[in-house]
Amino acid sequence: MTLADLIPSLRTSLSSRLAPGLWPETARATCDGQLLVGGVDLAQLAAQFGTPVLAIDATDVRSRCRAYRESLPGVEIAYAAKAFLCRAMARLVDQEGLAMDVCSGGEVAVAAAAGFPGARMVMHGNVKTTEDLKTAMATGVGRIVIDSLEEIAPLAALVPTRQQVLLRVVPGVDAGTHAGLTTGTEDQKFGLSIATGAAAEAVRGVLARPELELVGLHCHLGSQVRSISRYVEASERMVAFLAEIAREHGIELPQLDIGGGHGVAYAPEEESMDLAAFGRTVPAAIAEACQWHGLRMPRLTVEPGRALIARAGVTVYRVAAVKHGVRRTFVAVDGGMSDNPRPALYGARYHVRRFGRPERVPSRPVTVVGRHCESSDVLAEEAMLPEDIAAGDLLAVPCSGAYHSSLSSTYNQIGRPPVVAVASGAAVPMLRRETLEDLMLRDAG
Ligand code: LLP
Repeated sequence: MTLADLIPSLRTSLSSRLAPGLWPETARATCDGQLLVGGVDLAQLAAQFGTPVLAIDATDVRSRCRAYRESLPGVEIAYAAKAFLCRAMARLVDQEGLAMDVCSGGEVAVAAAAGFPGARMVMHGNVKTTEDLKTAMATGVGRIVIDSLEEIAPLAALVPTRQQVLLRVVPGVDAGTHAGLTTGTEDQKFGLSIATGAAAEAVRGVLARPELELVGLHCHLGSQVRSISRYVEASERMVAFLAEIAREHGIELPQLDIGGGHGVAYAPEEESMDLAAFGRTVPAAIAEACQWHGLRMPRLTVEPGRALIARAGVTVYRVAAVKHGVRRTFVAVDGGMSDNPRPALYGARYHVRRFGRPERVPSRPVTVVGRHCESSDVLAEEAMLPEDIAAGDLLAVPCSGAYHSSLSSTYNQIGRPPVVAVASGAAVPMLRRETLEDLMLRDAG
């Protein structure tokens, strides 16, 4: 019997097991402290690309895309590009046969540059500039989601040929997520409220414009939603509104896009939304509601962003300093709120793992902080790290694929980290590190 058998907490801290549900599909930890993703040793990746670096497990992304297609047969899966976009990612999503949710001319342009067909893009946004729309028109974006009454006339005036549109509707459903990630309730900036009559007015406004073809409705409850019953509730309200439109205008809209927001686990105590249960429940509930209202089943679309890419990403940092405070130990790394503002913005919690050398001592809770000139620059509170953590060590933060690179900034004039796809033992850059020269290019002098 070993000491680790006698003291269970010691056993956990000494094992090479990865916390389940948080790491990409191909992640492996060896007993001597190595951490591999896509067959690539992350210590070697750090040596080659420097730190911080974001590794993306391409196999994991493909598996998630396939899981969505299998769990939701017949449903259009539109990847929400805001979670993470570059040309390689657009190609990957294209190869997996998904559609794409875009929300700016920039996102349209990046996807189009990768050869992603405009016809499979759905354009969102509560503000679409004329430039955004012109890029969308030039790319032949399949559907535009109208978010306000003011959008209707300028869009109709701009489209070169009859344009398919959806209306973003506020279903008035609270998804039970962080206030900063809630978008399905009344009194927020997105969409047209059913309750105030704005949605019905927009239907009349669009139907009056022959340049626009109203093909359906859209709603999005928010992000990090785990409750499937909220999707059912929102979908039922959307179907009831489809029925109202059918009664008032004599048309059955053929499409219903119920948005994304499917929650994922960032820490061992958190849960992901159950995709299989979603697939079993939500389309069936919509079919039942349609039957009740005497409507044909519309073609459904879902728009997961995070759920397709979050788990595929692992950020690697290097420890720069360890400070023992009166109550807490601070482990400072060479990245921070510029590459991951999520803890500061949403109180997001993260799991952290030291790697690169064997675990020989127990772990203790520490606060992992970044390099920025703010005390709110905290990457993880109460992260369990080995007692002998020291400058030079490497740390891996799983679940970094969504809204990390895309939400990153150059705060303190620090260039954004590279993103590298790892698969079959090869590391292929997706985005290179932003250099000081890149930053200086914008400086008008
Ligand atoms: N569809 C629409 C219309 C959206 O606005 C969004 C996200 C999505 C789909 C995809 O949501 P997802 O499945 O990725 O949760 N920066 C925040 C997330 C903001 C999400 C904005 N809209 C975060 O880091 O948590």
